[in-house]
Amino acid sequence: MHKINIAIDGPAGSGKSTVARKAAEQLFYLYLDTGAMYRFLTFRALREGIPEHDEEALLQLLTNIEFSLVNEGEKGVKLSVNGGPLGEGIRSQAVTEKVSAISAHEKIRKEMVTRQQQLAKEKGVVLDGRDIGTFVLPEAELKIYLYASVDERSRRRYLENLENHRPSDIDVIKEEITRRDHLDSTRQIAPLTQAKDAFPLDTTNLTIEEAVAHICHLAREKEKKG
Ligand code: DC
Repeated sequence: MHKINIAIDGPAGSGKSTVARKAAEQLFYLYLDTGAMYRFLTFRALREGIPEHDEEALLQLLTNIEFSLVNEGEKGVKLSVNGGPLGEGIRSQAVTEKVSAISAHEKIRKEMVTRQQQLAKEKGVVLDGRDIGTFVLPEAELKIYLYASVDERSRRRYLENLENHRPSDIDVIKEEITRRDHLDSTRQIAPLTQAKDAFPLDTTNLTIEEAVAHICHLAREKEKKG
């Protein structure tokens, strides 16, 4: 059996993070949430008062941030920043509003992509994002493009917020998701798009477990082939 790398791309709220994390657990793989890296940079930029258009200052900020995958035993392998947790702040509304603009800068993407490639150097990693199958790991053995209707994605985000006691309004979420879909798929550099050799998986009518089982099945087939 040969370990492989798995690229999971798709729009906001398609269930990527949950599905990718669970698939990684079942396969005994590492999980890398690349969106969390862009979110952390955005979080820090907001805290330092760096404007979203100041690419050089953002790049400078990024040089002082070190991402790593840390084994936390029972809790699995987690993305850490400068040795500590990324924190819940990266999921705030303020970060969500700004992250697409910050992640659209060419130099920022170049640096992030290099780091993501480094973290996935040894096989056996599930990465989720927008450009994994197209730019970060174009040679990934398994590529999945996960999607679901905008209504279903908004409903899921709403329920997730309820669960985490974050106040939210489903119509606002829908607007936000539509806006981010547009920004992420029309940006100049590495826009969100389905890689030619990606396997499309519509999760609108699938449970998380069904989507995970599907991906694990495909992964095991690929592992056998090596
Ligand atoms: O997956 P997410 O919603 O946490 O990602 C947050 C933002 O980060 C998303 O709107 C676009 C950006 N992103 C990206 O440009 N490339 C990636 N590989 C992952 C995320």
